[in-house]
Parts: sequence; C-alpha cells; structure tokens
Amino acid sequence: MKKDAHILTRCIHGGQQNCEVTGAVMPPIYTSSTYAQESPGVHKGYEYSRSHNLTRYGFERAIANLESTGISEEQDVSHGGFAFATGMAATATCLELLSTGDTILAMDDMYGGTYRLMSLVRERSQGLKPVYVDMTDFEAVERAFAEHKPKMVWVESPTNPTLKVSDLARIAKIADDHGAIAVADNTFCSPVLQRPLELGMHVVMHSATKYLGGHSDVVGGVLVTRVPELAERIRYLQNAIGSVMGPFDAYLCLRGIKTLGLRMERHCESAMAIAEMLEAHDKVERVVYPGLESHPQHAVAAKQMGLPDGPGFGGMITVFLKGGLDESRRFLENVSLFALAESLGGVESLIEHPAIMTHATVPAESRAKLGISDSLVRLSVGIEDCDDLIADIHVGLDAI
Ligand SMILES: Cc1ncc(COP(=O)(O)O)c(C=O)c1O
Repeated sequence: MKKDAHILTRCIHGGQQNCEVTGAVMPPIYTSSTYAQESPGVHKGYEYSRSHNLTRYGFERAIANLESTGISEEQDVSHGGFAFATGMAATATCLELLSTGDTILAMDDMYGGTYRLMSLVRERSQGLKPVYVDMTDFEAVERAFAEHKPKMVWVESPTNPTLKVSDLARIAKIADDHGAIAVADNTFCSPVLQRPLELGMHVVMHSATKYLGGHSDVVGGVLVTRVPELAERIRYLQNAIGSVMGPFDAYLCLRGIKTLGLRMERHCESAMAIAEMLEAHDKVERVVYPGLESHPQHAVAAKQMGLPDGPGFGGMITVFLKGGLDESRRFLENVSLFALAESLGGVESLIEHPAIMTHATVPAESRAKLGISDSLVRLSVGIEDCDDLIADIHVGLDAI
C-alpha cells in the first residue's frame, strides 16, 4: 500500500500484511497464552501473550496507520498503537503517564466514566488533580494553564453529550508551549472523520466499543501516539498494568474497521438529515449537531472534521425536547427502531437519556451547569434506511 493511500484504502490495508506462512489475509486468532523458547531467553520475539500477541498487533497496527502515527516498525512493534480491554482501561493506562500530585486539565463536558475515573478514583488513589475547563474558550484554557501548570490536557471533541467542538490544533499548540501531553478522545469521530495526531495532539484515545468495533458486539479501547518516547512508555505501561485487549476482541475490532469508512459515510449522511428534520419540528426546543449552521462551533467542526471526500459531522445528535422528564420518557418509550440503550457508534440506532443513564455519575450541579437537563436526549444514528429512522422519530414525537 502507498504511504499516502486514501483513508478508505487504509481502513482495509493500513498496517496489514498477508501471513508469510499461509498467505492468510486476516491474522489468525492466536489464543496461546505462552510461546516455546529454544533455550532460556532465546525465542522468536514472543514470550507471553500479555506482552506480545499477533492478533492484537494486527489491530494495533491498523489503528496506528489510520490515526497517522508515522511510527515505524523499528521504533515500535505495533507502530504506536495499543489496544486495551475497554476504553476505560485505555484511559486508566494513559493517566499512568502522570505522577502523584500532577494536574490534568480536562474538558468540562466529557464521558461520565472519564470524569468518574479522574475525580472519584484517581484523585483519591493517586492524588491526581483534575481541573475542568470549557475548551471552546481559549482564554479560559490559557488562564488554566498559567494557574495550574497541568502535565496533561484531556479533550473530547465533539463532547459527550453536549457535542461541544474544540479546536484541537489550538489546544495542541497551547500544550506544546507548556510542555504538557495533549490527549484527544476521538471516540465520537473515528479516524475517518478526524485525525487529532495530524492536528498536533500527542495521544489519541478511543473507546473501540463504539465506531471502531461498529457492531455493538465487543468492548475495547485504544491509545495511539505519534511520539516515539510516549510509545515506549505506553508499551511499558500496557504490559505492566496488563489490561490488554484479548485476541478474539482484537479480531472483531480489526474486522470492524474494514468497513469503518463505509459506515461513517452513512452515519454522517443520515444524521445530517435527521438533525435538519428535528430542528424544524415544533416539539423540539433545540438540536445540537456540529453539521448544523446553528451549532456554535460549526466553523471549527467544518475545518477539522470531515469525510474523505466532503463534509461529515458524525452520527451523534443531541436534542432538547420541549417539556421535561415526562415528555422525554414518552418519546424514548415510543420509538422502536432506535433501541433505548447506552453506548453508541454501532450499525443499529440507539437513543438514551444522559441525565439518568450515561452521565448519572456527573454531579447534578455540574450537569445543570453543562445543560445536561431532563429534556436532553442523545441519539446515535445507525446505518438503517434513513426514511425508516425518520418515521420512527415521528412516532416518538407524536407520542409526546
Ligand atoms: C467518549 C467516550 N470515551 C470513553 C468511553 C469509555 O469506553 P468503554 O465503555 O469502552 O470503556 C466512552 C463510553 O461510552 C465514551 O463514550
């Protein structure tokens, strides 16, 4: 494959080569936990499956290629890509790059589990000091850097669930100026829509459970870096902590990303049509979707996100319905193609109520400040026929 191949080609071939022994085009699922040695310490580069697993390497190299790490085989065996048991395991390992008492500057709106890990676990167990700031406000980010001297900055863009979009190149530049590690949770975009390393971020994190896996049948996580020194430290931590992705899951994730390009095209196209329909509906107070001109950071989104051959703003939509919890419940109970379930990014459409479901761990006061109210409903638009999805949403809205 050419180095500058199209991203849709990279989804299929990036980081991959056929098996030298059999010609197999997909790596076999290597289940062995250990590998025989000819003599103590003399082996083929494989000792123990927590440290080395060829199926996991297959997925790790693929995601490293898609996120444009630029790291060669000589610099790191899986090119700067690392796979973990879950997204949270990836995040937890990434936080181990910090030391006791370090400050992390994090986006004020982000996945509730990330907030829980930083504030309710690591603050107690490691003296981590999380400081939350709205990273769409660059003066606030600069002030927070000057005041708190963070060693790491953690940004989601678009955020979960209020879909705020942060200018990743600007965040990376500020982090560089202050010698901090810049990490982007790229779960909502996938590398088909946004490649934060190309924008200057140092590390990308994914919940592979979402768009990378794409079929709601696997949980997994990923860290990817373009910085060789960080790759070396993450490889050490991945093995030392041991929350690695198993070979069966690595196989499913690798299979998932083969169709990532096609799926993202459909997710984006349908989500745009649904967002426009919702914005015009009289039972809807407000729609937040980065593709709508009404989105406060639409211009930034158009600059840093996109399908390979045109605009693309992802499959996630946030809707504020008119009314409160009763109206939200009636809507959620009456849609049927959209399954009422946590998670996102699969081929099937999902719908959820963040205040009660995914973001219940975020304190009520912070939820109120961020606008995560009882009337907020989050949609993950799947790849079903778009007219059928729109008809389903009408049934839900008519029931309010
Ligand atoms: C943006 C984001 N980051 C991280 C995670 C955590 O990933 P996992 O559930 O795979 O541990 C999630 C899960 O919903 C998420 O939405």
